[in-house]
Amino acid sequence: LDNGLALKPPMGWMSWERFRCITDCKLYPDECISEQLFQRHADLLVSEGYADAGYEYVIIDDCWLEKNRDNDTQKLVADRKRFPNGLNALSDHIHKQGLKFGLYQDYGTNTCAGYPGVIKHMKLDAQTFAEWDVDYVKLDGCYANISDMATGYPEFGRLLNETGRPMVYSCSWPAYQEDAGEMPDYESLKQHCNLWRNWDDIDDSLESLMQIMDYFAKNQDRIQPHGGPGHWNDPDMLLLGNYGLSYDQSKLQMAIWSIMAAPLIMSNDLAAVRPEIKDILQNRAVIAVDQDELGIQGRRVLSRNQIEVWKRPITPVTKSGHHSYAVAFVSRRDDGAPYSIPFTVNELGLRNPKGYNVQDLYDASNKLGVFQSDSQFITRVNPNGVTFYKFTAL
Ligand code: GLA
Repeated sequence: LDNGLALKPPMGWMSWERFRCITDCKLYPDECISEQLFQRHADLLVSEGYADAGYEYVIIDDCWLEKNRDNDTQKLVADRKRFPNGLNALSDHIHKQGLKFGLYQDYGTNTCAGYPGVIKHMKLDAQTFAEWDVDYVKLDGCYANISDMATGYPEFGRLLNETGRPMVYSCSWPAYQEDAGEMPDYESLKQHCNLWRNWDDIDDSLESLMQIMDYFAKNQDRIQPHGGPGHWNDPDMLLLGNYGLSYDQSKLQMAIWSIMAAPLIMSNDLAAVRPEIKDILQNRAVIAVDQDELGIQGRRVLSRNQIEVWKRPITPVTKSGHHSYAVAFVSRRDDGAPYSIPFTVNELGLRNPKGYNVQDLYDASNKLGVFQSDSQFITRVNPNGVTFYKFTAL
């Protein structure tokens, strides 16, 4: 969507994966979907250094609404108990921290968790979002006719635009089409949305992560070309800092999301993230790959002995037009020891005649030096882990 927004993949924090639809604030005061949760996370984004690393949007996912619209005005109302000061107060708090405010809604009659959706009130809701100073809208697609989405999603985007307030527009439309066995219209998505969820929700496990990676790799011929500045494919939230991923698996998700030019939207309890996981989330070299200005999405390019090679063209580009590359080696092995595997640089598809200076993106002290096309490149990957390098074209 050419609205001047999301020229790089959006970065931020969103409630769903970690906090789901916890609404009992008596039992779970630190976890329920409430103004306190989002204020706390806005504050933590800043105090824990995430904002400095580029994380910007604080996004309320489902379960923030009252079950009914306002009787007189038909406006959406945030849950009165859990958001006692209203969304303008929360949005002000987030903006005062130098961050941006995102909100979830649903194109259908109801959100996935059963709260009122936008379908009969699209104009009013777009205006209400603008009044609440929303900067980012995630529009889900539960309880809607998939056949209406090709006109409905563009229409809601137009209504957002007509408010005059710039809002990033995240669409879930293709995920629902894919689910129904229909082919998404990527040209229309690019024209009408800043990002879109291609597929299933991520859950807190390696299995879920791997399923999403496989979906994107198997369908990369039709998906990968459509990602770019202002219009991104979205493989869903980062799991880092939660229960399901080990240290190595956390590095793996961060590397592959960066290769895929994915939005980096965390969903975790920022007060509970262990220091070594925080270092991964704030790794400037890896984030720079994700945010590379060319905005070219990467691909899985080969697989040998269950070691996959994922690569993404990035800056700098040489005068003769050779890209630099981010290259991730992913181990799908779980048979014990770290597994060593040699590739020639040429086999990786890197053919700059002057060679490449290679840097380990997870270990700045590991200086690998210069490699030519016929050089052997040996890497050693932990089970279900990753090694991640930048090959800078000379
Ligand atoms: C869908 C979306 C999720 C989340 C939930 C909320 O499943 O894909 O990301 O927003 O709805 O109910």
